Amino acid sequence: MGITRSVIRGVGAYLPSQIMTNDDVAKIVDTNDDWITERTGIKSRHIAANGELTSDLGIAAAKQALIRAGIDPIDIDLVICATATPDRTFPSTSVRIQHSLGITKGAAFDIQAVCSGFIYALATADNFLRSGQSRQALVIGAETFSRILDWTDRKTCVLFGDGAGAVVLEAQSQSNTRDDRGILASKLRSDGRYENMLYVDGGPSSTMTVGQLRMKGREVFRHAIQNISDIIEETLVMSGYTIPEIDLFIPHQANVRILDGMAKKLGIKNEKIIKTLHHHGNTSAASIPLALNQAFQEDRLKKGDVILMEAMGGGFTWGAVLARW
Ligand code: UT7
Repeated sequence: MGITRSVIRGVGAYLPSQIMTNDDVAKIVDTNDDWITERTGIKSRHIAANGELTSDLGIAAAKQALIRAGIDPIDIDLVICATATPDRTFPSTSVRIQHSLGITKGAAFDIQAVCSGFIYALATADNFLRSGQSRQALVIGAETFSRILDWTDRKTCVLFGDGAGAVVLEAQSQSNTRDDRGILASKLRSDGRYENMLYVDGGPSSTMTVGQLRMKGREVFRHAIQNISDIIEETLVMSGYTIPEIDLFIPHQANVRILDGMAKKLGIKNEKIIKTLHHHGNTSAASIPLALNQAFQEDRLKKGDVILMEAMGGGFTWGAVLARW
């Protein structure tokens, strides 16, 4: 008996052209390249130009993903954009992306799970595709975090950057065996007890302002390694896979020390982990598709490879998706 699975048909990404190095940031706040490199692994980040919006970044990434997938935008019947930095409070950034690509059918909506947003969006799209409600989905992670940073706070402004990534998913009939391609398992978690560890101090209903990012970095760091390790193990148990059977880990890119801690805790070989944060910092919901795109461009993704994507972010929210390329 066959099964419907969400197969990744294409991946794309976009980074704004303006690059801000650690030395550039050191001209604004009391920091230096050595500290940022040693504590985070970040060397530079991309900053959206004046007037360049989250939707613009998302549209560019989506176009590339659609071309690589060989799918006409008019056939897309689901657009989900994961973002914590929407163009407007409403309507969603997704409807703007949908309109710009000439898509007039199906549904478009945003998902807000901060750095876990892409994982949440992927798992949501997978459920729409497997249930038969949609056939071809565009899943985007797009952020302009530079707009919500406090550029006087060296503890946070050095960490984040702007960017977007996207994938095209297609519902395909698979044989329901171990060789199936597409999303094999996903697991999402959240725990609002930790809301004040990583948040923005504004919003339409609380302050009528956008607000700026605030973070208790050390606490987030501590929870990140534990939560990420737990969710990876739960996703593997659920799917019947083991760590050595994973060909490539595509993690959220927050801090290289988090990735090293996760690798040590779970016994993951370093060469199996895609690391991109040195050149774009933490791009929140965009970071996983940006890393996936880099793996694709470097020819590190072979048909049949098993990949594991994971993230943890504000909320706390966290999650993982296991897929066969
Ligand atoms: O995307 C998901 C969410 N985000 C994360 O996963 C981020 C998680 N947290 C982290 O990555 C790390 O906690 C940080 C990179 C944010 C901070 O690293 P840390 O090793 O935890 O540093 P710390 O906050 O404990 O600060 C250590 C020292 C402090 O000085 P004192 O008090 O020891 O004298 C800070 O004032 O480093 C100082 N410091 C800086 N110095 C130079 C903090 N930020 C900077 C800076 N430049 N930018």
